[in-house]
Amino acid sequence: MKFEFYNPTRLIFGAGVLEKLGEAVRPLGGRALLVMGRGSARRSGLYDRVAGILSASGVSVVPFEGVEPNPRLDTVLRGSEAARSEGCDVVVALGGGSVMDAAKVMAAGVFYPGDLWDMMYVGPRRPRLPERALPIVTVPTLAATGSEMNDGAVITYQDLKVKAFVEAECLFPRVAVVDPELTLTVPRNQTAYGVSDIIAHVTEAYFNGVDGTPIQDSFAEGVLRAVVQWGPVAVEEGGNLEARTQVQWASVVALNGWVQVGTRGAYPVHMMEHTLSGIHDVPHGAGLAVLNPAWMRFAAPHRPERFAQFARNVFGVREEDHLTAAMRGIEALEDLLKRMGCPLTLGELGISDPDPELYARATLEVAGDREGMLRGRPGMSRLDLVGIFRSVL
Ligand code: NZQ
Ligand code: ZN
Repeated sequence: MKFEFYNPTRLIFGAGVLEKLGEAVRPLGGRALLVMGRGSARRSGLYDRVAGILSASGVSVVPFEGVEPNPRLDTVLRGSEAARSEGCDVVVALGGGSVMDAAKVMAAGVFYPGDLWDMMYVGPRRPRLPERALPIVTVPTLAATGSEMNDGAVITYQDLKVKAFVEAECLFPRVAVVDPELTLTVPRNQTAYGVSDIIAHVTEAYFNGVDGTPIQDSFAEGVLRAVVQWGPVAVEEGGNLEARTQVQWASVVALNGWVQVGTRGAYPVHMMEHTLSGIHDVPHGAGLAVLNPAWMRFAAPHRPERFAQFARNVFGVREEDHLTAAMRGIEALEDLLKRMGCPLTLGELGISDPDPELYARATLEVAGDREGMLRGRPGMSRLDLVGIFRSVL
């Protein structure tokens, strides 16, 4: 194990902390581009509340609405132009992962020379990473991606139907104001997809990382146990603040770098899912619910003891034989996802014309290495990927 850890985002967490947004933003700028999605913040009255808090602190607000789920490059471009032409000096993201990701790239886009797509990791080319961004403040309204406290963003190039990510130091939010009360209005299905995403963030590093990381294993298993306990409660009882709080905290730690520190894990299931949401515009967490157990079934025979550990420590499986225990664990995960209302097949995901060959090729075009393999444990060839996509038809 050998690593550096860096996460400069100041986290303000807990029910009611939205009231601190003004004091968090004011030192960073006096004119905020307030980035939002397609209406939930207006409908719930959150927009008015946030605009009021910001103006009371002396921050003027330039609203930018309409960021779509699976945010598009052209939307991001419009946001950057708005920030520039309106003279904004800080960007506040009020929404789910899509809004936060779009806001991050908008903030960097203000200074970025040339085509914003050049900053994304696409295939073997070296991205031209952004070096500067307006200060970013995230206010998540949905517990899912962890974007609130990391340096990543995922954007879709609508013309190519390609979804890709960027990671750069300047994209770390300066402050994350994480108030679980804001998630009380998230509908049942999006809550469940968020839980599926949180689970996948943790399982990816857990299963694909290096050996000899017992402390990280315990972090990961702890986050997973909390989500297994509280995720279904948040889905069933949307107004349960305790459940919303636990799931929101899980979302933050699942992808702020801490759980997977030093594991050098790959994210093969995410790479496969980004292909699905890039082509079919499906919700990320729903796509993961289909692919994560399918990938586990493929990978478990290569490392049964690891999957048995997951089954035993997360789901309390008691089987002695590793492979049998591993399979019970995967079934338990599927059962959890199903109970929450997540899809488990491409059909249930609403894809009527699935094309496993295309998905395998497209995944490798974006995320494959020079040998044409997708990184993970085990590494996956095109045929492996076709097999996984076929297994969920
Ligand atoms: O657009 P509005 O009207 O706001 O509605 C949204 C949207 O329809 C709604 N919503 C959000 N907060 C709500 C609410 N509805 C009612 N009440 C609230 N409080 O939820 C819907 C989905 O929102 P979205 O932001 O798309 O969901 P999510 O947070 O799951 O974000 C998904 C995006 O993040 C990327 C995904 O690929 C996808 O593009 N990811 C980003 C990552 C990162 N930056 O680290 C990592 C992830 O693995 C992921 O890839
Ligand atoms: Zn994810």
